Amino acid sequence: MLNIGVLVSGGGSNLQAIIDKIESGYIKNVSIVTVVSSKPDAYALERAKKHGIKGICISRKTFNNIDEYDEALISHFKAHEVDLVVMAGFLSILGERFTKAYEGRVINIHPALIPSFCGKGFYGIIPHQKVIESGVKVTGATVHFVELEADAGPIILQKAVYVQDDDTPEILQKRVMEQAEWEILPEAIRLFAENRLVIEGRRVKII
Ligand code: GRF
Repeated sequence: MLNIGVLVSGGGSNLQAIIDKIESGYIKNVSIVTVVSSKPDAYALERAKKHGIKGICISRKTFNNIDEYDEALISHFKAHEVDLVVMAGFLSILGERFTKAYEGRVINIHPALIPSFCGKGFYGIIPHQKVIESGVKVTGATVHFVELEADAGPIILQKAVYVQDDDTPEILQKRVMEQAEWEILPEAIRLFAENRLVIEGRRVKII
């Protein structure tokens, strides 16, 4: 059984997609053992509760520095014997201690095709605003392994989504979630659980 811990900060639609794929049996031998939110009022915690999954708020604000926050997250995930950490809309920064402790075992969903529209400051609705401003015809989502630098780890899966002429950032965000994020994040977890991801330098081979 692969134990996963999910880091959230907001609505939790990606968490919901993972829950649904586990409950439908599409993802096998995976259990969400804890949901950790950086915000006490994140609806993602409600979603976890509805599915009998333990949720907790561990907020960066209650720690003096990033090292103490890292240590708190590490001890929480160790106590739950977490094998894979999934960042699903998590808005706090993970520091060196955490990313080292879970090297190769943290994945993140980014709402754009990395290396475009990513990095510091590109979160939530912002990537979609920049996509529309830039006039590109295609955007999408990326699941990648997490390293210290934001959105810079080896890419596991990507899925493209066409930008429509009359898109607003909100409409585009919803389509990227529906057509890309909610598909590739659960798929990446399934592949990880089946030991089918092989990191070779900057590339991830799916065997
Ligand atoms: C998603 O767009 C995700 O790509 C980004 O943050 C948003 C989280 O949405 N990292 P939700 O909380 O999963 O609904």
